[in-house]
Amino acid sequence: MAQVWTPSTWRDKPIKQVPQYPDAAALTAVETRLKSYPPLVFAGEARNLTAALGAVAEGKAFLLQGGDCAESFAEFHPDNIRDTFRVLLQMAVVLTFAGSLPVVKVGRIAGQFAKPRSEDTETLNGVTLPSYRGDNVNSLEFNAQGRVPDPDRLLQAYGQSAATLNLIRAFATGGYADLHNVHRWTLDFIAGSPASEKYRAMSARIGEALAFMEACGITPELVPQLRSTDFYTSHEALFLGYEQALTRVDSTSGDWYCTSAHLLWIGDRTRQADGAHIEFCRGIKNPLGLKCGPSIAEDDLLRLIDALNPENKAGRLTLICRFGSDKVAEKFPKLLRAVTREGKKVVWSCDPMHGNTIKASTGYKTRPFDRVLKETRTFFEIHRAEGTHAGGIHLELTGKDVTECLGGPQDISETDLARQYDTHCDPRLNASQALDLAFLVAENLREEKKLFRPAKTAQA
Ligand code: PEP
Ligand code: CO
Repeated sequence: MAQVWTPSTWRDKPIKQVPQYPDAAALTAVETRLKSYPPLVFAGEARNLTAALGAVAEGKAFLLQGGDCAESFAEFHPDNIRDTFRVLLQMAVVLTFAGSLPVVKVGRIAGQFAKPRSEDTETLNGVTLPSYRGDNVNSLEFNAQGRVPDPDRLLQAYGQSAATLNLIRAFATGGYADLHNVHRWTLDFIAGSPASEKYRAMSARIGEALAFMEACGITPELVPQLRSTDFYTSHEALFLGYEQALTRVDSTSGDWYCTSAHLLWIGDRTRQADGAHIEFCRGIKNPLGLKCGPSIAEDDLLRLIDALNPENKAGRLTLICRFGSDKVAEKFPKLLRAVTREGKKVVWSCDPMHGNTIKASTGYKTRPFDRVLKETRTFFEIHRAEGTHAGGIHLELTGKDVTECLGGPQDISETDLARQYDTHCDPRLNASQALDLAFLVAENLREEKKLFRPAKTAQA
């Protein structure tokens, strides 16, 4: 691996998943323009996230990361941003209260546009066109003009990311996330479901605890954390020209930070050790994620960890495991043991979505909720058996009442999928399924706690 790194050294490396722009000069012009645009996040915030993830790596906190598979121009609406934010808040409360661990909240939001594809082209009724690669590249609509990559879409994606982030910052700090509002975060359509009943009972107990604390003088004036929350953004670092344009030197530390999001991750299809995506990410100081699918071998993983986190800093690297419910028990323990044996400090997060995608008989890409639960449960069991911390969960979800994943509290069937199938890429959990999953994770965090932190449990 080259020693010298600059934001553009990735351009000399082999690269995958590159859209073919008909006018390269037009793309360069857009990237040059983006270089002069304001950063979306600050280096200091990315450092705070690294520190928070450091606590996760040490077993003292839990990471909740979630949002759309692909954000889209069509779904850009304040209500959608609010609903995703509040389902994540609800899940975080469940995990904090029932799991008794601080939760680090990271959205797949405000920049999650670019999509890797397994095929470069798509054929429909005998017509072959370039694949859809995300709204920042081309259009989902299957027509020749729409599928041509258009550089101006990068500017629109930047604008949407900025506006989304602005609203999220307001939600996180402007009163909406005040713990006193915990009972107001339930989305109407899930009211009455068993998970939402559990949530209602839990928010009543939180309300009592807050009233008790207030009577003891612990008020939001003294403890501002009661009134606001830390919420971070993330996306896949796939479109490197865009990421390079937003990579700047931080004046405080002199380090390079990619200011398009707090955390960036490398996808399972672009994690080649000598490839462009690893080269770009190794040089930025943001906390990083690395997707680990069933094809990754122990040696490959150790080499990638050394490339991305040579100083072995806790919080720098999150390994996002996505094996599939049928493969996790076979593939994961070997990797976990190798990384633990080598003393590598990482956050282990479970993505129970991407290894469990199937095609329904009706043609829709979907995920059976049972398999999502099964992979999550197995991930926790393996950590308990190895004595390590199951650090986080990575989900594709939305606050909307979509019918994209099979099963769950509403028992969505194959014929139900058509009713509200809105995703631009992979199927997402709806709010009801997401809350159900949060209770399962909280239960597993309690099991972990009983095993590893018995003294504290006895005192509590
Ligand atoms: C994704 O997270 O949307 C994705 C494409 O994941 P993976 O790289 O794990 O396939
Ligand atoms: Co996806």
